[in-house]
Amino acid sequence: MEFNKLTAAEAASFIKNGQTIGLSGFTPAGVPKSVPAEIAKLATAEHEAGRPYKISIFTGASTGQSCDGDLSNANAIDFRAPYTTNPDFRKNVNRNTLHYSDLNLSNMATQIRQGYLGPIHWAIIEACAIEKVGNKAHIYLTAAGGISPTVCRLAKEGIIVELNAFHSPKSKGIHDVYEIEDHPFRTPVMITKASDRIGKPYVEVDADRIVGVVECDIPDEARAFKDPDSITTQIGQNVADFLLDNLRKGLIPKSFLNLQSGVGSGANAVLGALGQCPEVPNFNIYTEVLQDAPVELMRKGRVLSASCCSLTVTNDCLRGIYNDIDFFKDKLVLRPSEISNNPEVIARIGVCSLNTAIECDLYGHVNSTKICGTKMMNGIGGSADFTCNSYLSIFTCGSTTKGGAISSIVPFASHIDHTNHFIDAVITEYGVADLRHKSDMQKAEELIKVAHPDYRPMLQDYLKYAEKTGGHTHHCLSAAFAMHDTFLRKGDMHLTDFAEYIK
Ligand code: COA
Repeated sequence: MEFNKLTAAEAASFIKNGQTIGLSGFTPAGVPKSVPAEIAKLATAEHEAGRPYKISIFTGASTGQSCDGDLSNANAIDFRAPYTTNPDFRKNVNRNTLHYSDLNLSNMATQIRQGYLGPIHWAIIEACAIEKVGNKAHIYLTAAGGISPTVCRLAKEGIIVELNAFHSPKSKGIHDVYEIEDHPFRTPVMITKASDRIGKPYVEVDADRIVGVVECDIPDEARAFKDPDSITTQIGQNVADFLLDNLRKGLIPKSFLNLQSGVGSGANAVLGALGQCPEVPNFNIYTEVLQDAPVELMRKGRVLSASCCSLTVTNDCLRGIYNDIDFFKDKLVLRPSEISNNPEVIARIGVCSLNTAIECDLYGHVNSTKICGTKMMNGIGGSADFTCNSYLSIFTCGSTTKGGAISSIVPFASHIDHTNHFIDAVITEYGVADLRHKSDMQKAEELIKVAHPDYRPMLQDYLKYAEKTGGHTHHCLSAAFAMHDTFLRKGDMHLTDFAEYIK
C-alpha cells in the first residue's frame, strides 16, 4: 500500500468539533461505514467528558445506521443535508434535535460549490480500490456516485479513504465520474443516451491530499424491500396499460421513453410489474437509484441499459452484479448525482418519471415528504429533478395506507412538494387519473375516480361544500384539512360529515 494506513478510530480522531464532513455514497449504498461509527463513539466520549462535539454532514442522499443512525443517536450532528431514510435519524429530525435541510439532489454538489452550505473540512470516501499514478491518486468508488468528486476536490483538510473489501475491485470501470464546471463556465453535459460515458472511471485527486486509508470489510447497510403485493402489482399493470395506450395514440415516441423509477418498495414493485408486461417494449433507464427489480430485468434483456447514481439493492443483488460484472459493464453506468439527476439531460433525452406520492390532493398537488404536513418522512430526493423535467411525469401510490385508515387522495395536500403544473398522471390500484389537458375541476373528477371507493363519497362531499366558495379551484379552507384533523384526533380519516368544519 502506497498510502498511509489508519485505523477507523485514528481517522475519526482527525474530525474536530464544528467541522463538516462530505461523504461518498447515495442511499446506504457506497457510504463509508467504519469511520462514521467511530465518530459517533468519539462524540459520546467527548459529551461524557463534558465537552461539546457536533459536526455537519453533506452526503449524496441517505446513509445507513452507522452514519445517520449512530451519529444522530449520539447527538453528534449539528446540520445535515440532503435526503435520508434512516428511522433513528427521522425520529431525531422530528424531535428537532438537529438541523436537517431537504434539498433537490441534483442541487447538492452545486450548492456546496457555490459555498451556500459553508466549507467542507474532510472527505470520507468508500472505495473498492485506490491507485497511485505519478502524483495523482485514482479512487475507485463502490456502489454509488453521489457527491464524491465535489467533496474530494473541495475538502480543505484532506481525504480519508475507506477501502472496503466487501466491494469487489472487479467493479472498477462501472463509474463514469464527471464534474460540471462552475458557473458561468458551464458547458453542456454531452449525454444523449443512458449508456453514454463522458468522464473517468475514478475520482482523480492529488495523491498528497489522501490523509490515510482505512481498510475494512463491511457489507452495505441495504434495506430489504417489501415483497410486491396485489396492490403494487395492480398499480404496475395500470402504469403499463397507460404507457401502452399513450404509445398507441402516438403520445410517446415509438422507440419508447427512458424510465426513471423512484425509491422504496412501491417503486421497486411497479418497475418489476412493468417489466413483466410483454407488450411494453424493452426499455432504457435513466434514474437516480437502481433497485433489485430493474437489475433482474437487465438480466432478462427487458432493460437494455441503465444510468443511475447508486445501486440501492440488497447485498445479494450487489454480489450478483459483481459476480457477473462482464455482463453488466457496458449496460450499467453509475454517475455523480448532479449528472444522474441533471435537469437538462432529463429534459433532453426524454424520460418517463415514476415516483411515489405520500398523498395527492384533488387538484393534483403532491406531497412526497411530510406526514400530516409536519413529520418528515424521508425528503424530496430526486423526485422534483425528474418530475419537473420529464416528458411524462407520473406519480403512483396505493389509494390508502395504514389498513385503510388514511386516504392518499385528500382535499388539500398537507404539504406540497410538486405542484400540479408538472404532473401528468396519478396512478393507484383503481386506475389512472390523466391530468393532462384538464382544468383544476376536471382534475378533481379524475382523481376521485382513483381514490379508494370508501373515500370517494367523502371527497365528493367536500367538493359540494367547496363549490359554494366558487373560484377557479374550489376550496373550503376551514374544511380542507378535515380528513387529516380527523386522523390526528381519532387515528382514522373517515369522517361522517364535513359540516362541523364549515365556518
Ligand atoms: N400518511 C401517513 N403515512 C403514510 C402515508 C400517508 N399519507 N403514505 C405513506 N405512509 C407511510 C406508510 O404507511 C409506510 O409506513 P410504514 O413504514 O410504517 O409501513 C411508509 O409511509 C412508507 O410507505 P410505503 O407505502 O411503504 O412506500 P415506499 O417504501 O414506496 O415509500 C415514499 C414511499 C413516498 C416514502 C418514498 O417513495 C419517498 O421517500 N419518496 C420521496 C423521495 C423520492 O420520490 N425519491 C425518488 C426520486 S428518484
